[in-house]
Amino acid sequence: MSTRHFLSLLDFTSNELRALIAHAIDVKQKLKQGISHTPLSGKLLAMIFEKSSTRTRVSFEAGMYQLGGQAMFLSPRDSHLGRGEPIEDSARVISSMVDGILIRTFGHDRVETLAQNSRVPVINGLSDQWHPCQLLADMQTWFEQRGDIAGASVAWIGDGNNMCHSYINGAIRFDFKLRIACPAGHQPDPTLLESGGDRISLHQTAADAARDADLVVTDVWASMGQEEEQQQRVETFASYQVNQQVMAQANDDALFMHCLPAHRGEEVSSEVLDSAQSVIWQEAENRLHAQKALLEILLKPQA
Ligand code: CP
Ligand code: NVA
Repeated sequence: MSTRHFLSLLDFTSNELRALIAHAIDVKQKLKQGISHTPLSGKLLAMIFEKSSTRTRVSFEAGMYQLGGQAMFLSPRDSHLGRGEPIEDSARVISSMVDGILIRTFGHDRVETLAQNSRVPVINGLSDQWHPCQLLADMQTWFEQRGDIAGASVAWIGDGNNMCHSYINGAIRFDFKLRIACPAGHQPDPTLLESGGDRISLHQTAADAARDADLVVTDVWASMGQEEEQQQRVETFASYQVNQQVMAQANDDALFMHCLPAHRGEEVSSEVLDSAQSVIWQEAENRLHAQKALLEILLKPQA
């Protein structure tokens, strides 16, 4: 059987993703009840971080520990990844010694090359193109709060970035409507937009996108690797802040999500981030539970 990877949400079917979320909710309950669940005893996950992280690193490391396994952190600074050893060669070597590899990096081609040359499952912990693990946590959070998301209306406001791309895949797999508002020149990849069909619509303003939405989502205006554009982006994106006026366009019981870290006063106002509609802390915690379910699927020994 060929090695299974999780490079984008589309690597799993709708049914598989729904089953994963159901399992994530179950492992969360087990953890809260103090019930030990260690199906990955003896398993090792290598974690390559070529970009910064708080949530992804902590959740994968804690998750592997809780599942009975271990995680190993690798940074380009103190491995040969940062000294020019090809990713193909690194993949062959690392995958000969561990049971799974997580990578957070820049170009998505690097994630794909790693997967093509790895004999163990590879998980995309964020690339410039996608952030699929975050979508697992976001969907778990929605399912816990509201049930299935099929047919719901989701507003994406801000940059057409890796998170926006993953929401397009989310709309495809979970069958929700996605209303996107981004400044000109910062819209998501047109091919991806097309792949979402009539579930996806583009809107001029933040208020237009938020109209009658059940969920409003945003992310930083300058992603990792775009630090030099930060100042210019603050000006370009100024009218795309999610604030109380924007949330007032959404349904009264709409939820607000943000993958974090957030820049208060830029892409989201403090009032919205700290409001009763905001589920950001559940969303962040669910990184742990959703990824434990993912790790079990990919790394558990086959019966
Ligand atoms: N949301 C997210 O991926 O956070 P980190 O960058 O802290 O991992
Ligand atoms: N779009 C952001 C997400 C951070 C979790 C970035 O890529 O930096």
